[in-house]
Amino acid sequence: MVEVRLQGVVKRFGRTTALKGINLEVRDGEVMVLLGPSGCGKTTTLRIIAGLEKPDEGRVYFGDRDVTFLPPRERNISMVFQSYAVWPHMKVYENIAFPLKIKKVPEQEVRRRVKWAAELLQIEDLLDRYPHQLSGGQRQRVAVARAIVVEPEVLLMDEPLSNLDALLRVRMRSEIKKLQRRVGVTMIYVTHDQTEAMVIADRIAVMSEGRIMQVGPPEEVYEDPANTFVAGFLGSPSMNLVEAEARPSGGSTAILLGHGEIRIPKQLEGGRVIVGVRPERILFKPPSEDHVALEAEIDFIENLGSDKIIHLRLGDTLLVAKTVEEPPGPQGSRVRVYVRLRDLKVFRPSGERIL
Ligand SMILES: Nc1ncnc2c1ncn2[C@@H]1O[C@H](COP(=O)(O)OP(=O)(O)O)[C@@H](O)[C@H]1O
Ligand SMILES: [Mg+2]
Repeated sequence: MVEVRLQGVVKRFGRTTALKGINLEVRDGEVMVLLGPSGCGKTTTLRIIAGLEKPDEGRVYFGDRDVTFLPPRERNISMVFQSYAVWPHMKVYENIAFPLKIKKVPEQEVRRRVKWAAELLQIEDLLDRYPHQLSGGQRQRVAVARAIVVEPEVLLMDEPLSNLDALLRVRMRSEIKKLQRRVGVTMIYVTHDQTEAMVIADRIAVMSEGRIMQVGPPEEVYEDPANTFVAGFLGSPSMNLVEAEARPSGGSTAILLGHGEIRIPKQLEGGRVIVGVRPERILFKPPSEDHVALEAEIDFIENLGSDKIIHLRLGDTLLVAKTVEEPPGPQGSRVRVYVRLRDLKVFRPSGERIL
């Protein structure tokens, strides 16, 4: 277990700058999830931490040790990839034991550790099988067992569940989290799946185009997004982000939205703004807390079984609401909707949050 620190890491591939100055501190024993869309630099960051790539600028530290230019084998890390690289010609036991044998760990100790890892991943009964006799989920368990058997200081995972079917993915993500809790290893986990990130992370680093946009616990990045990118990336359906006009006067601000007006008891800067509200925070009954009310028309209702997605029209503005309750009226009806003041987020057109 160790803390991992990236300081001003820049990585270029020819004319592409994949990482534009990454600063990140991963605490000892925590799960840090790197979350972001494809191509934002997650894998490159992980490979630099692993020592598989060298940064063009910046430093990587494990604890006090500068490991920037150390090869992977001198870093005491393990890595699990999306394509579970288990060796087809080796039985499960040999697959898990392999990294220990390379390190010339004594046979008896190898047996003890393989047993330990196999028990943790509940694959004790599969040790005698070949990978082709396993399901995808079982093969991925073998890959994870092989990664933890060396008792690494840092466990790196790059979209390890994305080759599994949806049901198995849901089960494995909580198992990986439980496993990390039991072993206590520092883990850096890459995914583009925001739900997976919310479940697994102690903290999430949201990335976009080679930069970190925000780092924080899952609830914080969800409730308190630093900018429109983070606001829009987390949540499903994603946060409503609509253009509006702010008119401050005497300690409060009127925000003109659709044909309506929201009054916020704070003086904001005037001009174009972006108002954000999460679909599940659009309410159809007035809440007891401070809130605003808006008139809307129900444009369309999607019934997803447990959830209903309700498309609302406020003048020219479209909003998406999500509720587990019955829709407040049929398509075409006029309704009143409510948003608690603390659920209203306001951003500059450039994306930074101002409220
Ligand atoms: N070996 C490479 N050669 C050239 N470009 C690369 C290489 N690896 C990554 N890139 C580029 O760097 C950017 C970040 O890639 P990557 O870290 O793989 O993103 P992610 O894992 O978030 O999808 C992308 O634009 C990608 O095309
Ligand atoms: Mg990747």
